[in-house]
Amino acid sequence: RKLFTSEIDFLKGVVAMDGLPPDDRPEVCFAGRSNVGKSSLINALTGRKGLARASNTPGRTQEINFFTLTDGRYLVDLPGYGFANAPVAVVQKWQNLLKQYLSGRASLRRAFVLIDARHGVKSVDEEIMSLLDRSAVTFQAVLTKADKMKAKDLERIQAQVREKLSKHPAAYPEIVMTSSEKGDGIATLRAIIAGLD
Ligand code: GTP
Ligand code: MG
Repeated sequence: RKLFTSEIDFLKGVVAMDGLPPDDRPEVCFAGRSNVGKSSLINALTGRKGLARASNTPGRTQEINFFTLTDGRYLVDLPGYGFANAPVAVVQKWQNLLKQYLSGRASLRRAFVLIDARHGVKSVDEEIMSLLDRSAVTFQAVLTKADKMKAKDLERIQAQVREKLSKHPAAYPEIVMTSSEKGDGIATLRAIIAGLD
């Protein structure tokens, strides 16, 4: 049975650790700076445009959103880190939740850390990567918005990301290049998720 179909559904939005669903099945999550394209990537993977709410306002996603794949596993859309268009106290609250989730979720098989292909790895990305190292959560870098870059510049940015990843023990070496807009890398990412157990 196909893992990614239009049957994929939204399960729930979580605002505190005690609201998480039971960790009784594998899950993967999408982390990254606000506006990097996490929710758009989930929509591209599932083929359902409005499933995860995306917008040009950094700080759109403010809850941990769970989506159920056809085999029951979860895809998890996270709030962003870094600058967000929301009051400081609110941002602080969801950043704390994000960090607790990333360091304390037993069923988390892999964290995809999204990096805007135009900007490369920033210091806030490094902080999250270090947190994942300490928590022994394998993470994989996904470059987003590849459609906005020329091939030559993409190569340069990939080299930068590869160099940064080499310093993180929890980093998976393969980088996935994606465009949720054009569909690049989406089949590859689906196959990676399908291959995790
Ligand atoms: P937060 O929830 O605020 O943390 O943001 P997010 O990481 O979920 O980003 P979101 O998916 O909402 O996308 C942010 C903006 O980037 C939107 O305007 C998207 O249309 C745009 N975007 C996302 N992916 C791509 C892409 O592959 N190519 C292009 N050109 N734009 C993209
Ligand atoms: Mg979002």
